[in-house]
Amino acid sequence: MVATAVEAWDERWATPEGRADWLVPHPAVAGLVPVLKARGAQHVLDLGCGVGRHALYFAEHGFAVEAIDGAAAGLDFACREAAARDLRLSLRQADADTLPFSDESFDYVLSWNVIFHGTMGDVGRRLAEIWRVLKPGGLFQGTMLSKRDVQFGRGRAIAPDTFIRAAIPRRTHTSIATWPALPCSSPALSFCR
Ligand SMILES: C[S@@+](CC[C@H](N)C(=O)[O-])C[C@H]1O[C@@H](n2cnc3c(N)ncnc32)[C@H](O)[C@@H]1O
Repeated sequence: MVATAVEAWDERWATPEGRADWLVPHPAVAGLVPVLKARGAQHVLDLGCGVGRHALYFAEHGFAVEAIDGAAAGLDFACREAAARDLRLSLRQADADTLPFSDESFDYVLSWNVIFHGTMGDVGRRLAEIWRVLKPGGLFQGTMLSKRDVQFGRGRAIAPDTFIRAAIPRRTHTSIATWPALPCSSPALSFCR
């Protein structure tokens, strides 16, 4: 049984079936490229990049991309894809709670389906880190889980609105999720520093 969210994703990223649903950029992310270009954005961070679908897309569109994730298998896949597509970007294993970047480094930070893997304290720490590494005027785009999700409230409550679920059957695999997940009332989360 996997013990943390990162370990669970790492296991998933190791197989083609596990990666299959996570290869195409989300339209809401791809759709921001013209906006970023119009704002003169250059430096982009994909925080929790998974198998790299967004990081690779941004590199393809000429941005200077840093991508981090805790899961090595996802980073390995993204690295192979970058080589196959002749794309330059920096991929490294790191923790969302302590970002290995200087203050005010990025014009845009993306964290798609990542920061809610934890408790309210974890989410707050990650948002503070995102704020720290954004340049003044920089944009953040991310997601939270929705309280309107049918899964909301399932599992063992370990803190207000925070649950640890048991087995989660998926279309492509079954994972045993033992990490806490914090939903909120707004699944889309974005701000300008
Ligand atoms: C749902 S996947 C999303 C991947 C990617 N953002 C995408 O949209 O394709 C969540 C990713 O967040 C990573 N992750 C979760 N908690 C993390 C943490 N504390 N530090 C670094 N990565 C983390 C997982 O390893 C996983 O790759």
